[in-house]
Formats: sequence, structure tokens, C-alpha cells
Amino acid sequence: MRQKANPKYPDSIAVIMDGNGRWAKKRGLPRTAGHKAGFDAFVKIVDACDELGIGSLTVYAFSTENWNRSEDEVGGIIKLLNAMIPAYMPQLIEHNIRLRLFGNIEMFDKTTRKALDAAVDRLKDNTGMNLGVCLSYGGRAEIVRAFNLLAAEGKTVVTEDDISSKMFTNEIPDPDLVIRTSGEMRISNFLLWQSAYAEYYFSECLWPDFDREQLVKAFDAFATRERRYGK
Ligand code: FPP
Repeated sequence: MRQKANPKYPDSIAVIMDGNGRWAKKRGLPRTAGHKAGFDAFVKIVDACDELGIGSLTVYAFSTENWNRSEDEVGGIIKLLNAMIPAYMPQLIEHNIRLRLFGNIEMFDKTTRKALDAAVDRLKDNTGMNLGVCLSYGGRAEIVRAFNLLAAEGKTVVTEDDISSKMFTNEIPDPDLVIRTSGEMRISNFLLWQSAYAEYYFSECLWPDFDREQLVKAFDAFATRERRYGK
């Protein structure tokens, strides 16, 4: 892993990549074109985070609620995933990035699951930046899953550490900073447990327009925040 560009920058960040649909609408394009542009922005932000020495980046790519979008849009996102996973692999390999998936991956069809599993497996021994992709993910469902896993082990009284240990994200640090684009100021069921002490940064920028300069702006804002952890 690289050294951070600024010691005051966050170690672990999470991003709600919002605004693909509006970006497309503004241009008279189908929503799927917005998601494609969103994927391109994601690739650039992964590079920028790696270059700036961020240890962990977790992105919200597809929520459990997103399954309720039109068949056309869901199909488009899945098609994009199927095409982009293999295409993007060489870059992830080159950057020594370790990929993890967080969510109910069983919801995806066999083709997509196979491509996702192969990507995770190929990158599992990498030692660079942790990249977490939340797919078919919901924060409450994740907490319920953790409790059920603990119950199955016979635990009747649990600690915070027990719960953290059963989160999808148990191998990566909780986010220091959560960024949401497109001017929406909601948490939308994202990393509810993990974000207990995160700083939030909201950008008016639609996700496909969010670039390195915007990211640095968010990090610079974070660098000025005084974190007290309730003390
Ligand atoms: C939110 O914008 C975005 C999504 C629901 C999908 C995000 C998908 C990508 C960025 C591409 C795939 C990326 C990866 C890493 C697999 P929205 O559609 O809710 O936009 P709107 O609020 O303007 O309608």
C-alpha cells in the first residue's frame, strides 16, 4: 500500500455513487448510459484513491431496493457488470487491488456470480488497496444477517465486536469518511453499523462528473474536521 498523500486524509472511505440517472436525463440519454458513465467515473476514482494512498474504498453499486427498478434498467446494470468485470481486471491486477463483495450476491444470475467470484478469487492475494463493492446490499439486512449468524452459533448475549465480526466488511476498517454525490443528503441503508463515527461529505456533483479534483476537495474538507468520537 502507498503512503497517504496527506497524513490527515482518511484511511478508509465509502461512497454512495448517486446521480447516474439524472446525468443521463440531462443529456437525453437512457439511464443505462448514465450507469456506464458511472462505471467510468468509478474506475477513475479507484485509481485516484490508490494514488492518494487511501487504504480502503467501499462503493455502493447496487442496493437491495435497486432490484425494484425497471427490468430494463436492472438488466442494463447486470449487462454492464458482466462486460466490465473482465475488461477491468487487468487494471485491478496492475494496481495490486484486493476486491471484496458485500451483499446478497446469490441474488444475481449464475453468469454474473461466476464472473464476480472469479474476479474476487483472482485478486484475493493482492496486498494493495482494499476495494469493496456493495452489490445487492442493504445495511439493515446486513445487521440482521450478523445476528442470525451469531444466533446459529448459540450466542444469546452479543458484544459490539461480535456483531462487527459478522459484518461483510469484517476485514476492513470502518469508514472515516462517507461521500454521497448528487446533492442528496440521505444514508439510504448504507453501512449503517460501520458508519457510526464516520464523517459525511455531500457533493452536488452527479456521480459521472465526480473526478479526482472533487475527491481531493472531499479529502481536504475531511482533513479540517475535528473528530471527537462523542468525547
Ligand atoms: C445511483 O444513481 C447509481 C446506481 C443505482 C447504480 C450505480 C452503478 C454504477 C456506478 C455502475 C456500476 C459500478 C460498479 C462498481 C459495479 P441513480 O440511478 O440512482 O441516479 P438518479 O438518482 O439520478 O436517478
